[in-house]
Amino acid sequence: MHAPILDLDFIDNRTPEEAAACDTKVTVDTNTGRQRKLYIESYGCQMNFSDSEIVSSILFEAGFDTTSDVKNADLVLLNTCSIREKAETTVRHRLLQLQHMKKKRPGLIVGVLGCMAERLKKNLLEEEKMVDLVVGPDAYRDLPSLISEVEGGHKAVNVLLSREETYADINPIRLNSNGVSAFVSIMRGCDNMCSFCVVPFTRGRERSRDAHSIVREAQELVSQGYKEVTLLGQNVDSYKWASEDGTEKVNFAQLLEKVALISPDLRVRFSTSHPKDITDEVLYTIKKYDNICKYIHLPAQSGNSRVLDLMNRTYDRAWYIDRVDAIRRILGDECAISTDMISGFCTETEEEHKDTLTLIDYVQYDYAYMFFYSERPGTLAARKLEDDIPLEVKKRRLQEVIDLQRHYSLIRNEKTVGTVQKVLLEGFSKRSQEMLSGRDDKNRMVIIPKMDYQKGDYVNVLITHCSVGTLFGEPIL
Ligand code: SAH
Ligand code: SF4
Ligand code: F3S
Repeated sequence: MHAPILDLDFIDNRTPEEAAACDTKVTVDTNTGRQRKLYIESYGCQMNFSDSEIVSSILFEAGFDTTSDVKNADLVLLNTCSIREKAETTVRHRLLQLQHMKKKRPGLIVGVLGCMAERLKKNLLEEEKMVDLVVGPDAYRDLPSLISEVEGGHKAVNVLLSREETYADINPIRLNSNGVSAFVSIMRGCDNMCSFCVVPFTRGRERSRDAHSIVREAQELVSQGYKEVTLLGQNVDSYKWASEDGTEKVNFAQLLEKVALISPDLRVRFSTSHPKDITDEVLYTIKKYDNICKYIHLPAQSGNSRVLDLMNRTYDRAWYIDRVDAIRRILGDECAISTDMISGFCTETEEEHKDTLTLIDYVQYDYAYMFFYSERPGTLAARKLEDDIPLEVKKRRLQEVIDLQRHYSLIRNEKTVGTVQKVLLEGFSKRSQEMLSGRDDKNRMVIIPKMDYQKGDYVNVLITHCSVGTLFGEPIL
């Protein structure tokens, strides 16, 4: 992912990996001679990155080229995240910086999109006086007319959520892409109501996109030379689509299969799998196709059944372990598993925190995104439970989780030394133009000497050494 663009010092509960994955900006200049220029910056999850591509496409049709330089922009959009308090603080800081720019250029239009727009609605206009435009995740088709309203001297808001909108017909402008790998949204919203989570409120009801439009989009990506798609949804395993006459029904396993069959050279990834929904059918489909990556992001959130119940995750520790065992049984020990963990959720005891550590010992995750609990207004937890774990305790528990996970990340990486992995090259390594970086099908970053290889190539690599976060190797013929 792209380098962070902001000073991240004040975002103290994020791992470096999360920070690197979380901030991005427009990296392409479309330069088609359109009169006005859009600069869009995305925060939060991959769904937001994918939505920014949809927004850019809608605004391209309305006469905006995208620019990678905020100084050239006529319209600045921040596509925001509300998942933790710090995510919102980051955006508030960014708005302060933009305020200075707007003072110098009064004609500049500044808009807030995404989850903060949806959570705060028109209050955001009162709290952030310089914001002209507030648009929620299901209202992006309305952007051109909202922008006209702003040009007419009014502030504009549309935060209506929809039960149908999937933007299926919109051809995204690939902003976050290296030309090798692209995101494809397969569903929107979430119906799960985990008690800590703001997403059901900011993204609305779950809906699945037409399977044919997903396959078509992936086919087009292949014809443009892309080698990898990541199918995105908050809960991909509950993907469910039926044709209008009801004769055709597609579940997630069947969708995975349809996308995998497009081309053996197209790698298929997906995120996120909810432990309550991931079926053996999905696991067997992953096994059946070499081009479906052997990597599953399976967020546990906690290793303790009482805490999981309070979180309203609808599974307990035994169920989660059963799903991990199924992955190991069907896909083998090689299959990579990652998780999200929350430390210091309401009423979590020291013993219950230790259950999270022992779950990490059991699963030996390849990778984890780890957070301390941040209360979000309006969620079930905020309404019903007390945020009673002191910040120092949350942070100490989080550090214990991070330290243990780093230990297992290294162990898992060390196991690959001496093996050969098929790597899809994505571009130059961050440190050197003499080295290329890519990922293997377990989603591990691999660095190799450049030689005559290029991004987009598949290369068989003998792994020679590793660190906690990266594998290093030599191509073999
Ligand atoms: N749909 C995904 C999660 C999306 S949010 C799933 O169900 O797994 C990404 C992660 O942010 C969550 O998995 C959780 O670990 C974390 N998160 C969500 N709300 C949070 C909160 N209030 N405080 C801290 N972390 C939170
Ligand atoms: Fe949030 Fe739970 Fe939905 Fe994930 S499944 S987005 S954590 S409510
Ligand atoms: Fe954040 Fe919204 Fe994604 S809250 S994590 S941007 S769905």
